[in-house]
Amino acid sequence: MAQAQTQAPTPASDNREILAEDLVQAVIARMADCEDARFKQVMASLVTHLHAFAKEIQLTPPEWMTAIQFLTATGQKCDEKRQEFILLSDTLGLSMQVVAIAQASGAAKVSSGPGTGTPLMGPTEATVQGPFYWEGAPELPLGSDLGTDVPGEPTYYHGRVTDTAGKPIAGCAMDVWSSDSEGFYDQQKGDDAPMQLRARFYTDANGNYHYWAIKPAMYPVPVDGPVGAMLTRLGRHPFRPGHMHKMLSAPGYQKLTTHIFVSDSKYLDSDAVFGVRNSLIVDFQAQPPGKAPDGRVMDSAYHTAHYDFRLARGA
Ligand code: BEZ
Ligand code: FE
Repeated sequence: MAQAQTQAPTPASDNREILAEDLVQAVIARMADCEDARFKQVMASLVTHLHAFAKEIQLTPPEWMTAIQFLTATGQKCDEKRQEFILLSDTLGLSMQVVAIAQASGAAKVSSGPGTGTPLMGPTEATVQGPFYWEGAPELPLGSDLGTDVPGEPTYYHGRVTDTAGKPIAGCAMDVWSSDSEGFYDQQKGDDAPMQLRARFYTDANGNYHYWAIKPAMYPVPVDGPVGAMLTRLGRHPFRPGHMHKMLSAPGYQKLTTHIFVSDSKYLDSDAVFGVRNSLIVDFQAQPPGKAPDGRVMDSAYHTAHYDFRLARGA
């Protein structure tokens, strides 16, 4: 008969195992030598929330492996023109959460800024940048038409850029970009496709801008990757309402990345990336053929879209 084995209790110093309930603290304790306080704070919070998430949903090993394969596929889908991780962040609402946090901290700076005697209005609301910004778009004179050779309903875009007290900002750079009337950006039209429907303008001495383009159509976010598969599995549609992207920057002001949305577009109530703000919805007013506000004679109907932008002071 085998002799019963008696095991001496392990001295505390020899006990190397970390209990599940102590894991979070153990991981955070390993960050003790981290010299970057913000990075340490971010990582400690991330670890805390990740563990809480796994415990809350009782994550199984096969489920975790599926998630790892999904994240791997998301990374593999990225290249210089395609950013699947941004799309993932956008479709999970995280990009808009980060935009809202940034704008709330900017707004706090505006309201506590030096008084001018004029009541301060908040800056124009920001929204997601999206993946189709293309650095180096042509700088064009005010009044240029981006819609030549692009099918779509001609639209005259105009308005003014001011600070939050209504003072005009001259020489403000305004990058604009949009999809065509079928919902495609130039970057989606093949490797050699030239830039289309994008430009940089500068406001005039009174802060005014005007240019021609087309009325943008609603379109789906790219769905030929893992994020598209995720949306399908979640029973979600991939569409965004029609919008024109705008990025405004001027020395001494906070950069603004936003859109204006077409008021009669489908999907304003269910934008796939949660980017709609009421204050950014613009009536694209139908105009009969005839003389446009800039004197151009239109032989067919067109639209006008008016929007005034306000920038907050700051770097
Ligand atoms: C866009 O508006 O261009 C966009 C934004 C987020 C995801 C995909 C596209
Ligand atoms: Fe877009």
